[in-house]
Amino acid sequence: MLGIETSCDETAAAVVRSDGHVLSDVIESQVESHAPYGGIVPELASRDHLRNVRPVLVAALARASLTLADLDGIAVTARPGLAGALHVGAQAALGLAFARDLPIVGVDHLLGHLCAAYLQYPEHPLRPPEVPFIALLVSGGHTALYRVNGLRASQIQELGATRDDAAGEAFDKVGKLLGLGYPGGPAIDRLASEGDPTRIELTRPMSHKASLEFSFSGLKTNVARFVEQNGAPQDNQQLRDLCAAFQQRIVETLVRKSLVALEREHLTTWVLGGGVAANAGLRAAAAASASERNIRLVVPIPRACTDNAAMIAFAGAQRLLAGENDGLTLEVSPHTELSRVTRKGRGQRGATTASTSPLGKLR
Ligand code: KG4
Ligand code: ZN
Repeated sequence: MLGIETSCDETAAAVVRSDGHVLSDVIESQVESHAPYGGIVPELASRDHLRNVRPVLVAALARASLTLADLDGIAVTARPGLAGALHVGAQAALGLAFARDLPIVGVDHLLGHLCAAYLQYPEHPLRPPEVPFIALLVSGGHTALYRVNGLRASQIQELGATRDDAAGEAFDKVGKLLGLGYPGGPAIDRLASEGDPTRIELTRPMSHKASLEFSFSGLKTNVARFVEQNGAPQDNQQLRDLCAAFQQRIVETLVRKSLVALEREHLTTWVLGGGVAANAGLRAAAAASASERNIRLVVPIPRACTDNAAMIAFAGAQRLLAGENDGLTLEVSPHTELSRVTRKGRGQRGATTASTSPLGKLR
């Protein structure tokens, strides 16, 4: 299966077998194009994708030592994402599918992140998770806890999501505030590893235990206020301590709520996915909590946590195996097809288990 991913600021292509073995995995990051603006500029993203999509596709086939004639199908991220960026990948995929008469399936990017736990890299074989499991999806655009009953979008139930900023968004905004450039996550991760999280006291985001919803904007404001009152960190050690305190607040919230979800759903398998799952502090804290409680934790390698096309190829292969084919009518959408119960700014629209609302598709 050839996978193509262009939903945000990575142009990626990969060839993956339906059992999860990754034959090639090429990622062209646009970080340098967007860095001067402190965030992603959609129009720049589309243009970079246009420039990069062909060489990235050629490289993915070459590294797998395959040609188009060897493929069984094409998977492409069809939602959610930046509309113009999604179109570039979709049109490339449609062109190839048409020219080679191959089946083509659109993949939901969030479902793709959950599928990263099934990828088998030669240097990192992983025992794949068995459904049902709890997934913590933490990316730049989304943060949610899901009960995953199967790998079809309709089998994935949101238990709670963020009411405001996604975890990655909080990392990026605080990174910008501290002058660490874009994206802030990896930089804060590095600095935090040398900081003392107890020297600066920050608020605990949405810590009331029962709720599986998240809210990180208060924590971000808390960091902004600290900088306002104390000035930008005076020396490197203070910067490291502030990063460590901020990261610890995020990590403890993500871990605590995941454990509540596992307990509430009576499940013992826990999967992490999304760019923030590359965070060393989160990986270590999740591993420690899981081993204390006999929970099986499945965490993809960092490269598979952040945006890539291998996860899209694997998710698409499952659709293809189920006999699905979107054909040349494939369309893109900025919205996820996964269930959504948490409303931004307001919280849940119903009980935590009510996840079949068709309204999720309309927002
Ligand atoms: O999943 P992803 O690559 O793209 C989206 O689908 O959003 O996630 C990108 C996000 C960014 O906000 C980035 O700062 C964050 O993941 N991120 C990290 C780390 N690596 C990437 N956050 C914390 N620690 C990291 N090591
Ligand atoms: Zn992503």
